[in-house]
Amino acid sequence: MASPIVQSFHQPVVSQVARQGYPSAPSAGESATKSAVSSAVASAVSSGFFQSVKRPILRGAVNFPVMLAPMVGLSHVALRSIVREYMPRGAVSPWPTEMLNSRRLPIEKFELVPEVLRDPSETHLVPQILGNEEEPIRHSVRRLEQEWGASGIDINMGCPVKKALSHNYGVSLMGDSDYAAEVVRMTIRHTSLPVSVKLRAGSKTPSRATEASVKDGTRDEVAGLDFLLRFATGLVDAGAESLTLHPRTAEQKRRGLADWDQIRILRESVSVAVVGNGDIQTADDVFRMLDETNCDAVMIGRALTARPWLLWQVGSRLGWPDPVGRDGEAPPSTPEEEGKEFGRVVVKLIDRFQQFHPPLEKAHWSDELLLRKTRFFLKNAAPWLQFGHELEARVAKAKSLLEARGAVEKFFEGAHSMSQRTDLRY
Ligand SMILES: Cc1cc2nc3c(=O)[nH]c(=O)nc-3n(C[C@H](O)[C@H](O)[C@H](O)COP(=O)(O)O)c2cc1C
Repeated sequence: MASPIVQSFHQPVVSQVARQGYPSAPSAGESATKSAVSSAVASAVSSGFFQSVKRPILRGAVNFPVMLAPMVGLSHVALRSIVREYMPRGAVSPWPTEMLNSRRLPIEKFELVPEVLRDPSETHLVPQILGNEEEPIRHSVRRLEQEWGASGIDINMGCPVKKALSHNYGVSLMGDSDYAAEVVRMTIRHTSLPVSVKLRAGSKTPSRATEASVKDGTRDEVAGLDFLLRFATGLVDAGAESLTLHPRTAEQKRRGLADWDQIRILRESVSVAVVGNGDIQTADDVFRMLDETNCDAVMIGRALTARPWLLWQVGSRLGWPDPVGRDGEAPPSTPEEEGKEFGRVVVKLIDRFQQFHPPLEKAHWSDELLLRKTRFFLKNAAPWLQFGHELEARVAKAKSLLEARGAVEKFFEGAHSMSQRTDLRY
């Protein structure tokens, strides 16, 4: 039974018709019916039947309210390809890259850089760039649009790592509203694609202020919000077509509670789509953020790497069809079902690394790099898995990717359970 929150995002009539038109368990020997159903779903999707995003994202191409976050070391082609498999049939979200440095993109050989690899079948890719100078940005966005096939460009104004700060991009741009707006303008000058910005709670806000504001709404919080709203309005006036807010200050990094109130207030204050981000772990969290903040879509980072079927869980509550190839199944939901599914994801990830990183003469990657990427994935995702540290330890001992794959398969020979929540400690 749909909750009232779900209903506010999905008209009951639509969901009823959708269910009638798309039986959840087609019986055997029904291929003709199946293809009729598929085309009914396809036309329902293209007519906007399932549309669950309020303000346009990617100029209206996005119809599903959950998306993967850009994450260094994680939002690569291998993981994207796996997460995408859990999207309801016909659902469209933007797909991120890891953040890409606009000083390097102009000279890089795209097919040799792991962060830039893409699969030709990928659509709605929105690479994220770090940058603050017109020439590198010009070259980067032109290449991304013309050679690489981007559908949008996202500008990182939230990264708090030292390297980004020392170059004055990432969250540093939040220290200079006028210049940040100019970075949006200079990007738009060189691309016809929609440009979005991912930002944090204002870096001019002392970290104590946001902490305090989470508790009781102090004057400092108002000052911090004033800054954020002025900053964001400047970006929109400069042409940003959507904004993503991760409402933690730079000083907080990823610790402490994300202040969702700031997402709500930002959504009220600007005319473009606002994507909310921070602390989402469950489908309930997704609906709570949509409901409490009125944001247009929810971006999920860490939890979606661990439990990518969250997309399916959300889709099925919204009345969307099952993902391709999973017709009639229910999304994994018990701890044991989720544990089993996670085992499949890890093995698949290793296989996808090999698929997308074929041995090339001059490539920078090696078995060692892919092994490191596997370990990094587990560092992020294993906290949701019971005895996840044991899995990490076994993979840490592996001397090759093949050995790691064997260790993962052996580990998942037994039953394992997965929690819906963990401390977001990383
Ligand atoms: C390993 C890791 C790498 C990240 N790299 C980026 C990045 O390249 N660009 C960016 O805008 N945010 C980056 N982030 C921040 C996430 O996009 C997201 O804002 C943050 O993790 C909060 O969302 P979550 O609570 O759903 O994880 C990164 C986060 C993690 C965990």
